[in-house]
Amino acid sequence: MKVLVTGANGFLGFYLCKKLLDIGHEVVATSRGNCRLPFNGTIGFSYLPLDLASEDQSSTIIRQVSPDYIIHAAAMGKPDECEEKKELATQINSMGTFNLLQAASEKKIPFNYISTDFVFDGVAGNYSEDAIRNPINHYGKTKLEAENWVEKYPSEWSIVRTVLVYGKPMTGRSNLLSIVQEKLNRGETYQVVDDQVRTPTFVEDLVTGIISMMDKRAQGVFNICGEEVLTPYQMAIRTANFLGLDASLLIRTLSSNFNQPATRPLITGLQIEKARSILGFSPSNFEEGLRKTFNAT
Ligand SMILES: NC(=O)c1ccc[n+]([C@@H]2O[C@H](COP(=O)([O-])OP(=O)(O)OC[C@H]3O[C@@H](n4cnc5c(N)ncnc54)[C@H](OP(=O)(O)O)[C@@H]3O)[C@@H](O)[C@H]2O)c1
Repeated sequence: MKVLVTGANGFLGFYLCKKLLDIGHEVVATSRGNCRLPFNGTIGFSYLPLDLASEDQSSTIIRQVSPDYIIHAAAMGKPDECEEKKELATQINSMGTFNLLQAASEKKIPFNYISTDFVFDGVAGNYSEDAIRNPINHYGKTKLEAENWVEKYPSEWSIVRTVLVYGKPMTGRSNLLSIVQEKLNRGETYQVVDDQVRTPTFVEDLVTGIISMMDKRAQGVFNICGEEVLTPYQMAIRTANFLGLDASLLIRTLSSNFNQPATRPLITGLQIEKARSILGFSPSNFEEGLRKTFNAT
């Protein structure tokens, strides 16, 4: 199958493209600017720059490539950046998705959109796929707008909601585990919140879930995340202990002590029963995720 991946240079994008190539798919990777992926020369791999903020580029590329399936993983994904550059975040996350859907609809290409637990307000937590969405920051609002566009797509559509993704960063952004490792290796202290609740997700499990959806042509919304409920502070402590680093450098704090531009939903975490029963999804527990992230046996 010819799969077009947006946000291919990103953290998730790297692992998605790698796995798709490993299992024999043709991958047309797209991202903003030049290719940062190390797959040039790999059979089935090609790269095209695509800035989702541009209306024309999406339709030109979709027409040119004519993929069998689209995985839309590109986003302005840092909540604080979205809060500070609201117009740009709306243009990329919401309108960028709209532009891509418009282009894809001409050829009725199945469309898989990567969304987030930040579409929820974080009051109740442990959200199912059909829980009421009520984002409390601009990032969440743009991702909700995009979900709404996807749900109106007249052909096959699916939405993946995931949570606090971790693993070894290859080409995309860093994550909690890699930051803890870097800071503690340098002997620096690191403040981590202990009043936000998540179901953290090992990046390769997320890829497995997305590819199962593609293989089964699953439609609708699926939560794809880890099963263990943890706070970032608990994750950081376990990472430090796992790596034999000095956990006393980790400073437990609360969200109210942070003056961040974007408010974070306090208690999220998603239910994965639907993914378990329909996709056979079975995520790693956090200990396994740590082992896989740091290539330990
Ligand atoms: N990481 C998490 O914890 C998490 C949690 C929930 C949901 N998600 C969702 O998962 C998806 C993947 O996130 P990630 O962690 O892989 O983030 P990431 O490492 O920041 O990757 C996002 C990618 O989007 C691309 N992008 C940004 N603006 C673009 C534009 N205007 N046109 C085209 N591409 C653009 C970036 O391309 P360049 O690098 O080339 O600029 C980047 O490679 C996102 O949709 C995010 O909302 C992530």
